[in-house]
Amino acid sequence: MFMQHGGNILEIAEQYGLATQDIIDFSANINPLGIPESIKQAIIQNIDQLKHYPDIRYRELTEAISQYHNCLASQVFVGNGAAEIIYSLPQVLETQKMLVLAPTFSEYESAFSQTGTEFSYYSLEDNQFNLSIEQFIEQAKLAQVDSICLCNPNNPTGQVLAKEDSLRLLDFCQQANILLVMDEAFMDFIIDEECSLADYLDQYSQLYIVRSLTKIFAIPGLRLGYLLTSNELVIDQLNKTCPPWHINTLASLAGQVALQDKEYLEESLSYVKEQRRYLIKELSTISTIEMYPSDTNFLFFKWLGNVDLRLELISNGYLIRTCETFKGLKETYYRIAVRTHEENKGLVKAIQEIVHEKSDC
Ligand SMILES: Cc1ncc(COP(=O)(O)O)c(C=O)c1O
Repeated sequence: MFMQHGGNILEIAEQYGLATQDIIDFSANINPLGIPESIKQAIIQNIDQLKHYPDIRYRELTEAISQYHNCLASQVFVGNGAAEIIYSLPQVLETQKMLVLAPTFSEYESAFSQTGTEFSYYSLEDNQFNLSIEQFIEQAKLAQVDSICLCNPNNPTGQVLAKEDSLRLLDFCQQANILLVMDEAFMDFIIDEECSLADYLDQYSQLYIVRSLTKIFAIPGLRLGYLLTSNELVIDQLNKTCPPWHINTLASLAGQVALQDKEYLEESLSYVKEQRRYLIKELSTISTIEMYPSDTNFLFFKWLGNVDLRLELISNGYLIRTCETFKGLKETYYRIAVRTHEENKGLVKAIQEIVHEKSDC
């Protein structure tokens, strides 16, 4: 499991004899603006709260999330990162065959296969990385799946589904009695349209939305995520199966203040948009790189060079994510996070130099 994700800087540092502070981590997709000041202050000012147990029902946090999404507090289940939700869902949802994208975030397959779920894959590479919702629905019918998990935006490809396509899929799932798990871990980075399905919980009992706060608020070390669903029976079961106090006091507090920090959210979106544009523009000029469009805070590209780009970049202090551990990719692809302008400039320069120096690449 460990090398299947980005952000493993400790292991990488050990492996290559580097200090962690000498590595600029483009492999984890974390907001480049860093932890918001509102979270830092809340943690500092409330550090003494650690002497108490957290509220076992997380009422204030759940209320803050329900207000953010304009849904009922009874439709929210909080988790120690989205990862905890992903591993809790198979314990309460009965699934036998699930349709997923290939490539996609691997933890859904790891979690649901533990309860014997089998998988059918929609190959993005075979479809030039365009998800055709008609074909996707056709495949769900053909493979006779009882569940679908879709990361929207998808990791590692970074594209978001148009709202009308998500709604078509949702309608299909509701009518065909298929569970739809929508992973919206990166949805907060989507600027141009509101593509989330969070407004549709009431009408669609088959819908389960997984969200993460670790990426947008740069707190992967603190851990916080949640599930939204109108299926309150499932929420009750999740509450019964999860260990008590599974989210620490400071993470719970961080969630409450962060979701109100509209200024940070707006600033993050425009910064990421500008830097994404910069990276796409610069990297597109490199002949051995084929960029794909992205709607979020990371970019996916095909590498046509002969050298191992990740390895070459590590010796320059840049860590990027190889996509070889993602299922369903025949060619060589990499994923990079959008970081600060200085860091992005540095990465572009390092890649240009590698391409220039290794004329055979
Ligand atoms: C698509 C997707 N969902 C969920 C997660 C897990 O997020 P969290 O840090 O909240 O556990 C990740 C982490 O990279 C992810 O890429």
